[in-house]
Amino acid sequence: MAGNRAGEVRAESPVVVVANRLPVDQVTDPDGTSRWQRSPGGLVTALEPFVAGRGGAWVGWSGSAGEAPEPFESGGMSLVPVELTEDEVDRYYEGMSNASLWPLYHDVVEKPEYHRTWWDTYVQVNRRFADRAAEVAAEGAIVWVHDYQLQLVPALLRQRRPDLTIGFFLHIPFPPYELFTQLPWRTAIIEGLLGADLVGFQRPTAAANFVQLARRLHDLPARGNVIEYEGRSVAARAFPISIDVAAFDRLASSPEVLARASEIREELGNPEKIILGVDRLDYTKGIGVRLQAFEELLEDGILEAPQTVLVQVATPSRERVEHYVHMREQIEQQVGHINGVFGSIAGPAMHYFNQSMPREELAALYRVADVMLVTPYRDGMNLVAKEYVAARGDLGGTLVLSEFAGAAAELKQAFLVNPHDIAGVKNQLVRALRTEPAEGARRMRAMRRHLARNDLEHWASSFFDALLMQASGGQERAPEGAQA
Ligand code: ADP
Ligand code: F6P
Repeated sequence: MAGNRAGEVRAESPVVVVANRLPVDQVTDPDGTSRWQRSPGGLVTALEPFVAGRGGAWVGWSGSAGEAPEPFESGGMSLVPVELTEDEVDRYYEGMSNASLWPLYHDVVEKPEYHRTWWDTYVQVNRRFADRAAEVAAEGAIVWVHDYQLQLVPALLRQRRPDLTIGFFLHIPFPPYELFTQLPWRTAIIEGLLGADLVGFQRPTAAANFVQLARRLHDLPARGNVIEYEGRSVAARAFPISIDVAAFDRLASSPEVLARASEIREELGNPEKIILGVDRLDYTKGIGVRLQAFEELLEDGILEAPQTVLVQVATPSRERVEHYVHMREQIEQQVGHINGVFGSIAGPAMHYFNQSMPREELAALYRVADVMLVTPYRDGMNLVAKEYVAARGDLGGTLVLSEFAGAAAELKQAFLVNPHDIAGVKNQLVRALRTEPAEGARRMRAMRRHLARNDLEHWASSFFDALLMQASGGQERAPEGAQA
């Protein structure tokens, strides 16, 4: 359907997801026409079954500044675009979300900036998201709000619609009291989150940080993970997010992907070992660390190129935010230096792609990589690590994983590293490269066993069940049309 006008959306959806981005991206074709394309993200796959088929709605931004398109139907969901002006993109998305909250929540890897104008716009945009959600949610509906861009929405929504059951999930880390309290608007953020019935985090420590902040900043009573607030109970718990493991496994073992994997090895000149990195180009991901480790191992003569090559795929991200601009320049200089010194006529030592790639191509890369290097300084989860494990149905390949990624708590058989310890990263990389196939298979099998039980469907349904339970005061409740 072309849909009702944005201002006239009817209150009829029993399940509503509210996220900064819609599950579809607006893309412009070379001839200038624009169309919607389903976003490839796992979140869409996970939430679709809960939203679609129940007349559910998804409230989010289209990804471009300017007037919001009218609401429309896609994949059994009503998509409700929220408008952001150029100024709002600048202050709410690039400023407050990605230059204040993002670095603060990731251990201040880069220094966060705090500006009152950014905050004012953050409040204004959060209000708009809450208004849209309040308009589309049916009486007694379940609303699931996502991530750090929208932390005020739970309370704003509760003010507008006290009849709703409200869940919130934070996809990124949540800092301890000592870091969080540098935020000038710290009490407003905690109050915003306390509007939810259930606040979900990636790790139990993050949930504990939130409970501690509520107790110490707001002097609220709490028992275990449940906070008493304005006559309601708000629970805080960890729900580690995952991927659609079976679907990724199937994709990675399809004949097309396997053929492409062999082709990639040939195109790279049949190296003995391929090391792979796949990330959004973000300073939290520790891309520079792995480049340095690789470079030092070449210098030390422990590795030789192009018998061993590093392939780094880095998707462009948040390209107008200053920290990202600097970081890209640094990485590209490092790549140039490595290839200048260690490349030869036989081929470069490393291959760098500042591009987004289709899922099939990523799956082929995972399948051909002997070592996957995942070295973030801090990461809520890191789905790339899980995708690599899901892709290795052949039990080949080894994973080097930062202790500071949420995934490390689950993928315990990876070669864990502290990305601040360059000598340690080098050692673990060499160990991973020299792992005997039987030992590698043992580790991969154990990680795959864990993932098979803890997939995306498990994540979404455990959150949903816990939310229903919490909202009903501990008794199971399933509002009409909203059963998990
Ligand atoms: P973050 O949420 O911080 O970006 P994750 O590792 O949790 O980090 O998720 C990244 C997602 O983006 C993964 O699903 C991954 O496959 C995808 N991705 C990363 N790099 C690329 C790329 N170059 N092309 C396409 N998808 C990518
Ligand atoms: O998980 C963190 C996150 O910011 C998500 O909210 C988002 O989908 C993803 O990273 C990509 O970021 P952005 O929407 O800023 O491109």
